[in-house]
Amino acid sequence: MSWTELMEKTAVARDKSLLELFAESPDRVEELTVENGPIRFDFSKTHLKDDVVTAFEAYLSEQGFEKARDGLFSGAILNPSEGRPVLHTALRGSFSPEVAEDGSQVRPFIDAELNKMREFAAAAHASGTYDQVLHLGIGGSALGPEMVVEALSHLGMKMDVHVVSNVDGAALAALLPKLNASRLLVVVASKTFTTVETLTNAKTVLSWMQSQGVENPLAQCVAATANPQAAQAFGIDDARIFAFSDWVGGRYSLWSTIGLPIALGLGVDVFDALLKGAAVMDAHFKSAPVAQNAPVLAAISDVLYANVFDAETRAVFAYDQRLNLLVPYLQQLEMESNGKGVKSDGSPLSYMTGPVTWGGVGTDAQHAVFQLLHQGTHMTPTEFIAVRQADHDWDVHHRQLLANCFGQSAALMQGQGSDDPAKCFSGNRPSTTIVLDRLTADALGGLLAFYEHRTFVAGFLWGLNSFDQMGVELGKILAKKLGAILDGSGQATDLDPSTQALLKLIQ
Ligand code: F6P
Repeated sequence: MSWTELMEKTAVARDKSLLELFAESPDRVEELTVENGPIRFDFSKTHLKDDVVTAFEAYLSEQGFEKARDGLFSGAILNPSEGRPVLHTALRGSFSPEVAEDGSQVRPFIDAELNKMREFAAAAHASGTYDQVLHLGIGGSALGPEMVVEALSHLGMKMDVHVVSNVDGAALAALLPKLNASRLLVVVASKTFTTVETLTNAKTVLSWMQSQGVENPLAQCVAATANPQAAQAFGIDDARIFAFSDWVGGRYSLWSTIGLPIALGLGVDVFDALLKGAAVMDAHFKSAPVAQNAPVLAAISDVLYANVFDAETRAVFAYDQRLNLLVPYLQQLEMESNGKGVKSDGSPLSYMTGPVTWGGVGTDAQHAVFQLLHQGTHMTPTEFIAVRQADHDWDVHHRQLLANCFGQSAALMQGQGSDDPAKCFSGNRPSTTIVLDRLTADALGGLLAFYEHRTFVAGFLWGLNSFDQMGVELGKILAKKLGAILDGSGQATDLDPSTQALLKLIQ
């Protein structure tokens, strides 16, 4: 089946409204709900239906999806532009091969490095040498760990964790006065250990520590990286370098030693529970049939809405304040993975790929952006995330929170007629609702693994490589060039007039 045929076959999804689909099938909720461990995924308020799912299933099978999915767990080269396997799942412990297709060691390497990290974190807790952790990283080297630490801080913090990513000195200027340099542990987290923002921040923090009377700040500095040689060259002792492999993509790296602040802040047992929860989702993704496979169904709905309904964005709202940082994390995961214009083989794509991911937290977002969801001219597939059991004692708050969450998805679907056009709600606006039993480390691990697999399947359906990010390079090259002009070591030769005028403002 060609892509065009898939689109023709699945165009029937537009024929019936969500309310019609419910009226047609009394078992719709059961049929389109998937439970995995502590997480329940309800796809019934989407336009998914048997013939649509069957068409996608056939397309996936003809395109070799099963082989690709197996390859994700066995170390096949799934990142062809960089010639790398993709093995973040191996970090979770299940299905990890000894050796990947490119010959690199997998299991022994992971065990050695993650155990070294676990021992370091446990020793830091036992010795009480440090009060605070300052994690310096950007993109995938910060978004995941920071989000997890914030989401699970109710489990109890063993050490304070601060994250600085932006090269904007204002970020460090606001934080450093609050830190005690002599009892500070600095984590420099960078897969490549070449990222300008992270290295600039690290150098500034180390010299600030010195200015605070710390004789050898490097002795309080550790690295999480896939480039240990560069970390050594930076001056960090090998005993405090926690490595991972280049087959772990930056945005998939929170399970690797990049997760050190999770182990330091929340404890090794919490880090391990996160990995275990992800492994439960891995097992589900690896073996559940398409029609009952949560990440696959989610990816099918992503492609359906992007390419059959022409939805250019998708919105995610967590009805849990602790998941405040989920959307920025997802934005990198989804948009850096699937924001591509060429296929894996380099040929141009003629259809829309990864939509813009946006969102926030409920109920705040209801009072800010939901107007557009209910009555705007865009059709925006929306995802609601709720947590059934709260970790505080104010039942009234939790009841109101969940009532709002479930009420919004019902309103989007039902709509409302009125004599006054301004008060009309068209309805038939799709949503998915994900309910976690409780915000535990294993539930969060499962949720994040779900998002990773969904991103992979959507990218597979679009025929692109979800595991490179060539699109960020050009901006980096130009920033370097402009930086050289500003510090006097380079010259403006081929810059456009607008950029030249902007540069003049600060020269
Ligand atoms: O510029 C994009 C990117 O390469 C991301 O993919 C990555 O997560 C981030 O930069 C940070 O890179 P590193 O971990 O190598 O510092």
